[in-house]
Amino acid sequence: MAKSQPPAAPRGPSKKCRRIGPSRSAAPSQETALQSESLRKYLSRGLFYTLGRCGGLGTRAENRLAQNVQGPLRDNGVVTQRAFGWTGVDVPVIGQGTWMIEGSRESERRAVEALRVGMDLGLTHIDTAEMYGNGRAEELTGEAIAGRRDEVFLVSKVLPSNASYDGTLRACERSLARLGTDHLDLYLLHWAGSYPLGDTMRAMERLADEGQIRFAGVSNFDVRQVEAAQAALRHRRLAANQVLYHLRGRGIERKLIPYCREQQIAVVGYSPFGHEALPRLDSAGGRVLAEVAQRNRRTVRQVILNFLTRLPGVFTIPKASQAEHTRENAGGSGWTLSAEDVGVLDRAFPAPNRDVPLGML
Ligand SMILES: NC(=O)c1ccc[n+]([C@@H]2O[C@H](COP(=O)([O-])OP(=O)(O)OC[C@H]3O[C@@H](n4cnc5c(N)ncnc54)[C@H](OP(=O)(O)O)[C@@H]3O)[C@@H](O)[C@H]2O)c1
Repeated sequence: MAKSQPPAAPRGPSKKCRRIGPSRSAAPSQETALQSESLRKYLSRGLFYTLGRCGGLGTRAENRLAQNVQGPLRDNGVVTQRAFGWTGVDVPVIGQGTWMIEGSRESERRAVEALRVGMDLGLTHIDTAEMYGNGRAEELTGEAIAGRRDEVFLVSKVLPSNASYDGTLRACERSLARLGTDHLDLYLLHWAGSYPLGDTMRAMERLADEGQIRFAGVSNFDVRQVEAAQAALRHRRLAANQVLYHLRGRGIERKLIPYCREQQIAVVGYSPFGHEALPRLDSAGGRVLAEVAQRNRRTVRQVILNFLTRLPGVFTIPKASQAEHTRENAGGSGWTLSAEDVGVLDRAFPAPNRDVPLGML
């Protein structure tokens, strides 16, 4: 996604868990089964994914490896929710992205199914944008949520090039039509553009006043830009800021997350897997991930999602266009990494020790 360059928590952690299926917690004895053999499986599985993407390895073998590690894994029976900033609305800490879900008829069918499976598992925070597939992702999201609108915390975004006052109103209208709904839960300015922020925010306020959106937010905004957006709003509060956040991109932990926490603005981290740039599992960091995963009887991706949602007021929205991936991702919540494991990951993937510009995909 080549975006043009942008110019130039919250209340305490009110976490709620929603049980979505019978618990099949692993017996303690299963832990002992997780010895070096299992670690090898984790390593080979992760490596396989990496090689598969680069080298065209088949999915059948990939599935076989996935099945090898299913036995000892804990189940995905609980989805964690927390208050979405000051709004007080409880939203699952893990949601679903929709960037690049468009494609062939068959891949779109699978992507819609994956979104529905995710909703069944409680991953009801669905993120889309008019930009994704030129509106196609919104149409597919509309298909996925048809008949289930009330279950979903639905988010879309206006392109900066449409974000004049009138342009924002019209863009929202088009998004609602594609999504087959009469309102969005959250509407974001995708990134800062050349239209005056005040115009965009006034349009957001009007949309909220008229019930077409519940909350207004921004995306790819650093602290200074968030302050400007807050100042531009006259009678509504900024609800959220959606920003890049993954293991090797933790710059927002220095200033942005603390600022948003203080202001009770939800932080939604996007591209938790680095837009499919996971650390190679045969690298030093990859081995650490695999060890933590093994210790917790979780997959590497589940560990990553859990780590990225450990801070109050922070949410994540992995994209998965295959139901088995969605199921795995759902297991990233409903449990807690120990302080020791958080420390281990923190050292393996350190946050920068100086201010860095906000990353952006
Ligand atoms: N505001 C912004 O500017 C902005 C920018 C970028 C992204 N976003 C939002 O954030 C969402 C997520 O970011 P992203 O799409 O860039 O990347 P991502 O979530 O970091 O990674 C997506 C990739 O990971 C794969 N994947 C997901 N779960 C998996 C699993 N359990 N096992 C194996 N592979 C798995 C997906 O494969 P499959 O599709 O094959 O399942 C896909 O290739 C986007 O979809 C979008 O909604 C927002």
